[in-house]
Amino acid sequence: MATALSQMPLAVLDPGGAGATALYIVAFSLFILGVRRGTHPTTAKQGNLIAVAGMAIAVATTLLLDGIGNWGLIVGGLAIGAAVGVIASIRVQMTAMPQMVALYNGVGGGAVALIAWSELRHGISLGEAIPLDTLIPVLFSMVIGSVSFWGSNIAFAKLQGLIPTRPLAVPGQQVVNALLLIGIVAACVSLAIDNGDPSQAIFIAALIAAAVLGNLVVLPIGGADMPVVISLLNAFTGIAAAATGFALDNVALIVAGTLVGSSGTILTMKMATAMNRSVANILFAGFGGAPAGAGGVAEERPVTSIGAQDAAIKLAYADSVVIVPGYGLAVAQAQHAIKEVADELEKRGVGVGYAIHPVAGRMPGHMNVLLAEADVPYEQLREMEEINPEMPRTDVAVVVGANDVVNPAAKNDPDSPIAGMPIIEVDEARQVIVIKRSLSPGFAGIDNDLFYEPNTSMLFADAKQAATEIAAEIGQL
Ligand code: TAP
Repeated sequence: MATALSQMPLAVLDPGGAGATALYIVAFSLFILGVRRGTHPTTAKQGNLIAVAGMAIAVATTLLLDGIGNWGLIVGGLAIGAAVGVIASIRVQMTAMPQMVALYNGVGGGAVALIAWSELRHGISLGEAIPLDTLIPVLFSMVIGSVSFWGSNIAFAKLQGLIPTRPLAVPGQQVVNALLLIGIVAACVSLAIDNGDPSQAIFIAALIAAAVLGNLVVLPIGGADMPVVISLLNAFTGIAAAATGFALDNVALIVAGTLVGSSGTILTMKMATAMNRSVANILFAGFGGAPAGAGGVAEERPVTSIGAQDAAIKLAYADSVVIVPGYGLAVAQAQHAIKEVADELEKRGVGVGYAIHPVAGRMPGHMNVLLAEADVPYEQLREMEEINPEMPRTDVAVVVGANDVVNPAAKNDPDSPIAGMPIIEVDEARQVIVIKRSLSPGFAGIDNDLFYEPNTSMLFADAKQAATEIAAEIGQL
């Protein structure tokens, strides 16, 4: 069958011809529209489908180009890739999305590096000098693709708990990284100079050095910083894919790679800004690994502890309630139970809103996705800048599995690791109910003064269990 397929006379489009160009323009117009629609939760699903349609057109167009290779391999690869992708995306838990993205991103980087290698071999087999406008993008894709593949695999392994999530620093690491980088650049320069007969051995040595660099750059980064790192590696893969597009003279790949590269870069910068940290600090400071860092152990100070019934009474007799979800909501899968609480409150005429911090949870849009899954009306989701001025007029702020994003140390303690990070100012509300299982710190590993404030009541429980009980109690009032 493979032989029969490899002989199928399907090639109908001239690679540089008007037909292929027109179809590619349609494809990347759909990519751009898809990305645009993806920027808003109400249109994001539609955006995804539009981008999928664009990718289907781009892939189909490429397969119809004259000179496409072995159909048996292509069909086999498409079938295996589609099967793995479909099964994995059906099975994946929402909390495991960051590592799935890391894995897919790594595969993209690896594919780009392998294409670069195959292009080099192809160039050598022709026995002529490889034009520099092909060789330079090939070398660039090889280095960046390899760094991205290995870096993403380490990110996956950390988030999946396969290797320790804490920062793993090797002594003299920055020096080793710098030497590796210098070696890779030197190898690439020598390959470009010898472009009449480039040495595969030097190419493979550079590929391996880039692999080691990818590992060494990501190993010292704490597990909880991984979403930012994954976004950065995603941008790298996009840029490497765009370079491959130049080497292969494929305009769809250039446009798709550039879109991934630029949107990944913007996302990385936005996440870093929302954490009030620079990308360099995330990459080199070894922060965000241990669950409890300096000052992380909860102090022995008195807190006010309440049960579900007391919480229900406070909420039911309020005029305005703001729910602040965080990572613990995702862990507990409490979104549906919280929506039930909100429904019960609304039945009683209480105004309910949700305050969404840009880095609540562990991935961009984490809370939006969870709350959308529970059919929370989009108009009730309020961004931090919008809801903060309303906090002093809020009767009860309910913090559900959030910690760092409501920690007043960010604005009150200049020495805090999160100093300067914008927070949801629940401490300004008349009363605060915090639902979490203990006084343990969150991602930043620091204690939270909010828990000890006189107007704060702690409800120590799993978020889903607590919300279910509160909804039932309000229903009975
Ligand atoms: P965190 O500060 O990480 O706190 C989460 C809290 O959830 C923990 O203190 C934990 O306390 C509680 N929790 C865990 N399981 C729970 C359960 N089953 N029921 C109830 N509570 C539970 O979360 P956050 O406030 O959302 O802040 C996010 C942090 O991640 C920020 O520091 C941010 O910078 C960082 N970060 C975010 C992103 C993105 S893009 N979102 C990317 C990288 C880093 P207990 O153990 O006591 O229950």
